Amino acid sequence: MAKTLSVKYNGQFAYSIRISADFSELLPLSKEAIPDPGKKGCIITDDHVGPLYADEIQQELGAYYADVLSYTFPSGEENKNLDTICGLYEFLIQNHFGRKDFLVALGGGVVGDMTGFAAATFLRGIDFIQIPTTLLSQVDSSIGGKTGVDFLSYKNMVGAFHMPKLVYINTKTLETLPPVQFASGMGEVIKYGLIQRVDFFAWLGEHAAQIRSQEAEALEEMIGTSCECKREVVEEDPTEQGIRAILNFGHTIGHAIEKCSNFSLLHGQCVGLGMIAAAAISKEKGTIDDAAEQSILQSISDFSLPTQASGLSADAVLTATKSDKKVISGRVRFILLEEIGKAKIDPGLSDEELLVGIRKVLQDGGRICE
Ligand SMILES: NC(=O)c1ccc[n+]([C@@H]2O[C@H](COP(=O)([O-])OP(=O)(O)OC[C@H]3O[C@@H](n4cnc5c(N)ncnc54)[C@H](O)[C@@H]3O)[C@@H](O)[C@H]2O)c1
Ligand SMILES: [Zn+2]
Repeated sequence: MAKTLSVKYNGQFAYSIRISADFSELLPLSKEAIPDPGKKGCIITDDHVGPLYADEIQQELGAYYADVLSYTFPSGEENKNLDTICGLYEFLIQNHFGRKDFLVALGGGVVGDMTGFAAATFLRGIDFIQIPTTLLSQVDSSIGGKTGVDFLSYKNMVGAFHMPKLVYINTKTLETLPPVQFASGMGEVIKYGLIQRVDFFAWLGEHAAQIRSQEAEALEEMIGTSCECKREVVEEDPTEQGIRAILNFGHTIGHAIEKCSNFSLLHGQCVGLGMIAAAAISKEKGTIDDAAEQSILQSISDFSLPTQASGLSADAVLTATKSDKKVISGRVRFILLEEIGKAKIDPGLSDEELLVGIRKVLQDGGRICE
């Protein structure tokens, strides 16, 4: 069943998240969020998503707003940079976009992060709407107002917090998403169950078949609950000063594997591996038992995510883990599980503790010659 959630920012209503299986409410909700029909909109999309959905969105919004244009850039993380943003600024200037006009992000997290960043900075900030079309962006990146681009070889190095006016999720867009991208998004979905809601984790296990075959009702339920989980955390800690850190569960070792594999593995696949590693460390420290660890492993493999990575050395992954931002005096701040459904922040793990997790997810325990 379609549903609408509202998200607060600093205690005040900020925007709605609509989860449904079509675009029928896009215009009514856009009108609520951005009422003035005299405004112009620009749909920002990539060359995979644009040909599939941009016309429909342009027609919907064009029926009300003064003018709706579209701007397409080549898909891929390698284009999430300031050069693409410069091209977009130029397009907006040439088409006389002003302070009161708005942008629409139509695509995955790359499109969403860049559109949000352009909206945060163009003329010191204009409105934008998120229409996320990957599972990852629907359950994670479109919510919370983190925007940004990569700089040199540093991911998300330049950015801003800028809240969208509306997040509109049409779960039907997932039908065209490559299966491996769908599986990647499942990494973040499973994470919410593990860090926040044991009942949701159990529900995922019970509905694995319906989710895998993308049955509409199961998808809406799953995405809706994931959005509720993300909302809960970002409302409490909008600018990542404290509790929002639990969203990094699975990400510390996950990011290190992502880097060491030269980004040949997708983000959610690495998060899955990172969660298995974090579960192994949690078990080692005595917070979760063998059965819990097994059920985490089972869930990750149920949703077509890898449970081991090959060709990486444990030492290289350890070094990459420690070069992450969360290192305080040589020890790595880490998110562990107190139990399934409850995360806890560990102020500092030793190399030995980290290696227990890292070896668990590397083929042959990561004993390879570099
Ligand atoms: N802002 C945040 O809070 C936040 C959180 C997590 C991730 N991110 C960012 O999100 C990005 C990853 O996002 P992503 O996983 O969505 O990747 P993505 O945007 O690169 O999309 C993955 C691929 O799927 C294609 N695609 C998207 N929707 C499609 C559809 N419906 N049908 C067919 N193809 C489709 C895209 O063109 C692309 O090729 C990263 O840059 C990451 O840093 C941001
Ligand atoms: Zn993530």
